[in-house]
Amino acid sequence: MPQSPDNIPLASDTKLVKDYLDRAALPPAMSGADKAELEQKIKALMLEKNAKLVAHYYTDGDLQELADKTGGFVGDSLEMARFGKECDADILIVAGVRFMGESAKILSPDKTVLMPTLEATCSLDIACPIDKFSAFCDANPDRTVVVYANTSAAVKARSDWVVTSSIALDVVEHLMEQGEKILWAPDRHLGHYIKKTTGADMLLWDAACIVHEEFKARGLQDMRQMYPDAAILAHPESPDAVLNIADVIGSTTQIINAARDLPQMDIIVATDQGIFHKLQKVAPDKRFIIAPTAGNDATCRSCAHCPWMAMNSLQNLYDSLSHESDEILVDADLAEQAMIPLRRMLYFAATHQLKVRGKA
Ligand code: 13P
Ligand code: SF4
Repeated sequence: MPQSPDNIPLASDTKLVKDYLDRAALPPAMSGADKAELEQKIKALMLEKNAKLVAHYYTDGDLQELADKTGGFVGDSLEMARFGKECDADILIVAGVRFMGESAKILSPDKTVLMPTLEATCSLDIACPIDKFSAFCDANPDRTVVVYANTSAAVKARSDWVVTSSIALDVVEHLMEQGEKILWAPDRHLGHYIKKTTGADMLLWDAACIVHEEFKARGLQDMRQMYPDAAILAHPESPDAVLNIADVIGSTTQIINAARDLPQMDIIVATDQGIFHKLQKVAPDKRFIIAPTAGNDATCRSCAHCPWMAMNSLQNLYDSLSHESDEILVDADLAEQAMIPLRRMLYFAATHQLKVRGKA
């Protein structure tokens, strides 16, 4: 008889993720009329308070539309950080997950940074606590510390470089050319992919994204038989066996651009299904198909959809903006330290042409 997930001993980080999810509330559904009224109230408040909305592609389509219509921004985590730093709003509302809000605050200490809910976090951030991470760095002092943006402000402050998925390969390639050995954290799949692609000497932390880890190569091979002309696009947080089959590997923005530009009319997508909102907009005539997941993991509450991204809604955005609650605050000394590797990433992005990888 199969064991129920509750009977299976959980690794400590998986248990932590499960605890977060158990207390997380998902937004209730809304009627069209209520939604339109709420949107008007949010728009009025945004004007009154000189606030701008920055949303990630995995958040609800209503939030993405609102950001687009109000002079805000929808993008991948690198672009969100860049926009937040450059825009002249007094208040930034970051719809996404906590590390995105923290990056915005670190880069714009004088702005008020709000989130629809501070409960929205990320399995990679949870699985990389600063005390253990610091000990890992101390034990490997000869290595340049490169961390994924999906980490806490404290972990960023301990790093030499912060990178996002759109820039990670280029930065590691650059460091390798300088003869540097790398300590990488926290995503093991992205780390493995970079190590394999660049040949860099990398020591990897062992954590994963609970959403991308669920994509399965075997199911994807079967799907390819069903859609032989389809292109497969994958986010590099996916497992190695999935990336091996992909035609394009890239950040959310890089996936959207590839879907728009490739000649294929059928596109299989191995990333969070929130991205479909933008995909349908940029290529309305194409057919988008979500890559198969196992769907029975102990932590992934809804397949191919990040449970924390799903916590962002029009209602909690309104509540946060009207009361200026759910504010991101980062200790000033920590922020000063974390700003150095974050700025290093933005400078690198501004001065290098980033490459998109894959067979297509
Ligand atoms: P991007 O930087 O590609 O938007 O990815 C962020 C993320 O959390 C993916 O799971
Ligand atoms: Fe974190 Fe994965 Fe959610 Fe992205 S999709 S925020 S990596 S848990």
